[in-house]
Amino acid sequence: MKTEKLGTTDISVVNAPLGAMYLGTKQNRDDSFALLDLYVGRGGNFIDTANIYAHWVGPQWRGGESETVLGEWLKARRNRDGLVIASKLGFPYADTTTGLSARQIKDECDKSLRRLGIDTIDLYFAHVDDLKTPQEETLRAFADLIEAGKVRIIGASNFTTHRLATANAFAAANGLPRYEVLQQRHTYLRPRRDGSFGAQLALTADMAEYCRAADVSIMAYSSGLGGSYSGKPDRPVPEQYLGADTDKRLAALREVAAEVGATPHQIVFAWLANQPRMLPLVAGTSIAQLTANLDAVELMLTPAQMARLDQAGE
Ligand SMILES: NC(=O)c1ccc[n+]([C@@H]2O[C@H](COP(=O)([O-])OP(=O)(O)OC[C@H]3O[C@@H](n4cnc5c(N)ncnc54)[C@H](OP(=O)(O)O)[C@@H]3O)[C@@H](O)[C@H]2O)c1
Repeated sequence: MKTEKLGTTDISVVNAPLGAMYLGTKQNRDDSFALLDLYVGRGGNFIDTANIYAHWVGPQWRGGESETVLGEWLKARRNRDGLVIASKLGFPYADTTTGLSARQIKDECDKSLRRLGIDTIDLYFAHVDDLKTPQEETLRAFADLIEAGKVRIIGASNFTTHRLATANAFAAANGLPRYEVLQQRHTYLRPRRDGSFGAQLALTADMAEYCRAADVSIMAYSSGLGGSYSGKPDRPVPEQYLGADTDKRLAALREVAAEVGATPHQIVFAWLANQPRMLPLVAGTSIAQLTANLDAVELMLTPAQMARLDQAGE
């Protein structure tokens, strides 16, 4: 797997972070351990979780299950030092409300550290923006965590371009840590202009341009559209992605997949992984799925194939 530095930092990660959202809930402890073992066995070093994962799976879950099982695995394998661990706060769960106030940031970080059983979160995300708390309060609270050694660097998820640029400009002017990584919804199919994902924000062209210019790494989430590229009848393409160019883009995926001997789902991940500063989150509910996704990010597409995929439907 290719490695990259996160933003302007020296933290080196593979370009396929592991999405740990359903570890500890949809995947039981043994299956979670097996997926984590597979990932690091293939050279992976970058694992993404959040305080809320994954309370919505069922009434018996409260959130924190993903961090907890990841912590148990880190302890059992004694491999924490070789890994880059990302977590997040900002969405409500259990008894915690939404927001990025100083109090919330301090409390949630302590809870996540406890569940993970580690001293430092390498990359700590604002999971969703908070328009009520001044950005200065949020950034100063993150700075305090870095100062205390509880966090190394910070990232933003589900932010607009304006808010990310404003926060990073404020950070630069005031000697505060900036958001080095953006985590946004992004896949090969383009969302319709009127397509809404609620609090989740899709990567826009102007955001991608900002990140390139400002040297902010992009982690792409839900790139597999929950399995929709597999073409299974129970996995239709979400309606937010049904636009004038959808058929042409799906056809281009199928064409390149046939040439390379891969699946269209894998070509989505190969297309993302072949772009600079782009880190597609890989996830899988079985060893076979995760293996396919890790194989995908190692596929080398030719410049002609990349151009064909880029331009399809234009
Ligand atoms: N920042 C945010 O707001 C945010 C939001 C969502 C996710 N995330 C992060 O992104 C990660 C990935 O998100 P996601 O689960 O939505 O990703 P996704 O890639 O859209 O969906 C993963 C699902 O696709 C199916 N799948 C996986 N590999 C496959 C393959 N090779 N062929 C066919 N189907 C396959 C599996 O579903 P089945 O088992 O049902 O087949 C799997 O659970 C999360 O773990 C989390 O870390 C972040």
